[in-house]
Amino acid sequence: MAPPYIILFLSLTLVSHTAFTSSTPNTITLPLSPLFTKPQSSSEPFHSLKLAASASLTRAHHLKHRNSSSFVVATQVYPKSYGGYSINLSFGTPPQTSPFVLDTGSSLVWFPCTSRYICSHCLFPNIDPTKIPTFIPKNSSTAKLLGCTNPKCGYLFGSDLQSRCPQCISNSQNCSLTCPAYIIQYGSGSTAGFLLLDNLNFPAKIVPQFLVGCSIFSIRQPSGIAGFGRGKESLPSQMALKRFSYCLVSHRFDDSPENSDLVLQISSTGDTKTNGLRYTPFRPNLSVNNPAFQEYYYLSLRKVIVGGQHVKIPFSFLEPGPDGNGGTIVDSGSTFTFMERPVYDLVVQEFVKQLGNYSRAKDVETQSGLSPCFNISGAETVNFPEFTFQFKGGAKMTLPVANYFSLVGDSEVVCLTVVSEGGTGPARTSGPAVILGNYQQQNFYIEYDLENERFGFGPQSCKRKA
Ligand SMILES: *[C@@H]1O[C@H](CO)[C@@H](O)[C@H](O)[C@H]1NC(C)=O
Ligand SMILES: *[C@@H]1O[C@H](CO)[C@@H](O)[C@H](O)[C@H]1NC(C)=O
Ligand SMILES: *[C@@H]1O[C@H](CO)[C@@H](O)[C@H](O)[C@H]1NC(C)=O
Ligand SMILES: *[C@@H]1O[C@H](CO)[C@@H](O)[C@H](O)[C@H]1NC(C)=O
Ligand SMILES: *[C@@H]1O[C@H](CO)[C@@H](O)[C@H](O)[C@H]1NC(C)=O
Ligand SMILES: *[C@@H]1O[C@H](CO)[C@@H](O)[C@H](O)[C@H]1NC(C)=O
Ligand SMILES: *[C@@H]1O[C@H](CO)[C@@H](O)[C@H](O)[C@H]1NC(C)=O
Repeated sequence: MAPPYIILFLSLTLVSHTAFTSSTPNTITLPLSPLFTKPQSSSEPFHSLKLAASASLTRAHHLKHRNSSSFVVATQVYPKSYGGYSINLSFGTPPQTSPFVLDTGSSLVWFPCTSRYICSHCLFPNIDPTKIPTFIPKNSSTAKLLGCTNPKCGYLFGSDLQSRCPQCISNSQNCSLTCPAYIIQYGSGSTAGFLLLDNLNFPAKIVPQFLVGCSIFSIRQPSGIAGFGRGKESLPSQMALKRFSYCLVSHRFDDSPENSDLVLQISSTGDTKTNGLRYTPFRPNLSVNNPAFQEYYYLSLRKVIVGGQHVKIPFSFLEPGPDGNGGTIVDSGSTFTFMERPVYDLVVQEFVKQLGNYSRAKDVETQSGLSPCFNISGAETVNFPEFTFQFKGGAKMTLPVANYFSLVGDSEVVCLTVVSEGGTGPARTSGPAVILGNYQQQNFYIEYDLENERFGFGPQSCKRKA
């Protein structure tokens, strides 16, 4: 049963290192690791994929229906951080190091905090909720509770002093009230805590008075999250980063110890383009009634091409309307790419047409939660149609096959790793219509050029040489 596998994964080893920058005084480089669970026993061969598919859907649902009100900051969901990528950050004096999920779809940076931290429903395989490492503020000589009148309190609770701390108005000089507690809701969980200021330490740089969430209670969220979205409280905003970039090592649904780098660019490099990358402008902010959407990185997707065939996607999905619904975002925290049902149906139709010589594995579709799945048993070679996203300006992202077809279990079946919300009928579009997930970003060097408001990408093998 070797030949199809070779075709599937060959493309990963053929791409060369082109764009990797090394660390300079202007950049900070952090190791980035995939957070995967161990594959389940063979009695449940579809378990990992099913979990990733449902996590991707929950995440998409959350990003699309996010509610922004001043006292609730919403972010994403990870049942057991599944399919995410993790970095370590050190806060405090002396430094305490904690792991964080890298998330470009939200903005607050927060960690499990204090010796009283409680994580409810966090009994996942490999995780003992009583042993989750926590940040201890009283052990840090530089940790301070955030005051209500501090402008940074306004990052989460609005710039209007009167509404966020009414008791301070009469006595604003000496007001000792702290910034209100935050509650972050997920699709299937939440976290709550209070805001701190403390040093964020890198080997050659200290960022003083970094705003960080000290969570004392979470549901289904064993690890902290590093928000890399566009909000003022995000890590890139607080550090005024000019760019950041990452390369996501391949998802293989195993506990591979591979990692790669997250690169933070501190000082301006003008409009220099990184070698080997193609660029498309970030879509300017939408003036919409939902400020939560302004945290996202919108791209202007122009065409989806399957095996040379241009899939005719209505413009109303490609471009956000005046209500802010529609359009495409790129998200490090979603696993599989999400497409609004009408878009998904058109794309699937084209794949089904072009792979029509293989029988559909309907039972695998039911069990894995992915569709369409094809039985490629007995095939010497399989010519998978190319899958390309073309963005404004002409930049084309042609995915390696391993980024959109996954072999399922031990079977001779491949499934498309793109998800959509179930059902037919009149789809009520809310939020982004396409969410480009991390599974589709594997083995690309991805650059968020904030200074020039553009998104760069180029194929690259992300596995770092040991
Ligand atoms: C968002 O909030 C508004 C007002 O608080 C509420 O009416 C609406 O149902 C909420 N939407 C979701 C998806 O929770
Ligand atoms: C984070 O730190 C832990 C403990 O020191 C280590 O095991 C892990 O590999 C680190 N992860 C990354 C992404 O550097
Ligand atoms: C915090 O300080 C206490 C007492 O000094 C010490 O026992 C504990 O190990 C420290 N915890 C961390 C996480 O540094
Ligand atoms: C603020 O506190 C200081 C000392 O605690 C006091 O001298 C000053 O009068 C107070 N100012 C106001 C506006 O209450
Ligand atoms: C979008 O809005 C955020 C915050 O509101 C701002 O920091 C960012 O520069 C804006 N981006 C664009 C492309 O307009
Ligand atoms: C399907 O099989 C037929 C007959 O073997 C062949 O002519 C055709 O080219 C195949 N189509 C594809 C898309 O592989
Ligand atoms: C795939 O097709 C082969 C040959 O027709 C069959 O024996 C096998 O059971 C099928 N596998 C699945 C998972 O449908």
